[in-house]
Order: sequence, then structure tokens, then C-alpha cells
Amino acid sequence: MADNVKIGIITSSDRASSGVYEDISGPAIKSYFSERISNETEWEYRLIPDDYDQLVATMRELSDLKCAIICTTGGTGPAKRDVTPEATEEVCEKILPGFGEAMRKVSLQYVPTAILSRQTAGILKNSLIINLPGKPKAIAECLDGVIDAIPFCIDLIEGPRLEFRERFGKAFRPGEKSKK
Ligand code: MTE
Repeated sequence: MADNVKIGIITSSDRASSGVYEDISGPAIKSYFSERISNETEWEYRLIPDDYDQLVATMRELSDLKCAIICTTGGTGPAKRDVTPEATEEVCEKILPGFGEAMRKVSLQYVPTAILSRQTAGILKNSLIINLPGKPKAIAECLDGVIDAIPFCIDLIEGPRLEFRERFGKAFRPGEKSKK
């Protein structure tokens, strides 16, 4: 039987967290992973302001709750209140710059302003933290650029063995035969 997996979602938005509008990006992350991952999944969702201390505390909390993947959305741009990458760098033991590079590369096919996102990723204990921009349409655009590296990354940090649903092909693991 496949391992259970816990996925954390942190929406960082002053306006969504104060009720000015509804958070659509957090639910878009949940839809993306539930459509693709076949493991039984538990979710941890937090909606917080663009606040460095709250971001740091929430990433640590979700890692302590054993989330294998923690996706943040929002706060990656150049504006004064955008501090998600700084909070990510603060909590992570290892930074994986390739995630940010790959996500910006695919995103540039959609919008020239993709270079404004300072999104990154890293490892905190047994969690992979991935920053995504705040726009709902950016969620799938960015995750499509890195999804194939996620299962093996989670193997390497001793998390659950992630599997994809049949129609997405076998999750890529170096040395294993692909069904794609
Ligand atoms: N990446 C993708 N794939 N699609 C987008 O629409 N928007 C960009 C960029 N990356 C975008 C994207 C814009 S306009 C900004 S300002 C930055 O992400 C930062 O967004 P954030 O501050 O909401 O994280």
C-alpha cells in the first residue's frame, strides 16, 4: 500500500487574510496536487498576512506536523511587504535554487514579469518548501516546471514515497524505468 502524505499550504496575503478577497491560490495548490498524486493525502492550510515572523513560525509549524511538501503562495515579488523567500531562507537547512530557476524559466513563457518573482525552495527537516507566486494562474504554471523532481526529492529527505495517478505517467526516479 502506498504511503500516506501530508501537504502543507501557506497563503501569504495581507488582503486575503484580512477578508478583502477570498484566497483562490491556496485551493489551486490543493487541486493541483490532489489531481496528480495518488497517495492518500492529508492537508494543512494556513492563511496569514505577509509577515516575516508569521511566515517563519508557520513554515516551522507545518514541518513539525510532518508535511512532506509545504507550498507557499504570495510574497515573492519585489514589493516592500514581499518577504516569503527571506523567511524560506531563514528556516531552511538547505536551499534548492534549481526550483526557482526552473519555475522562472517556464513562467517566462507565459508572462515577461515572471522575472519579478524571487521564488525559491529548500529543505527544512523532512519537508520540501516551495515558494509559488500569489496569482492563482501561476500555481500550475510553476508547479508544472518542477513536479517531476518532487517525488525523488522527497525520497532523498526520507519522506513518503509519492506516486502519480496513471494518466500522468510513473513518477520519475533516476534508475527506475519510466512508463511515459
Ligand atoms: N509566474 C507565473 N507563472 N505566472 C504569473 O502570472 N506573475 C509574476 C511573477 N511570476 C506570474 C509569475 C508577477 S506579475 C509577480 S509581481 C511575481 O510573480 C511575484 O508575485 P507575488 O509577489 O505574488 O509572489
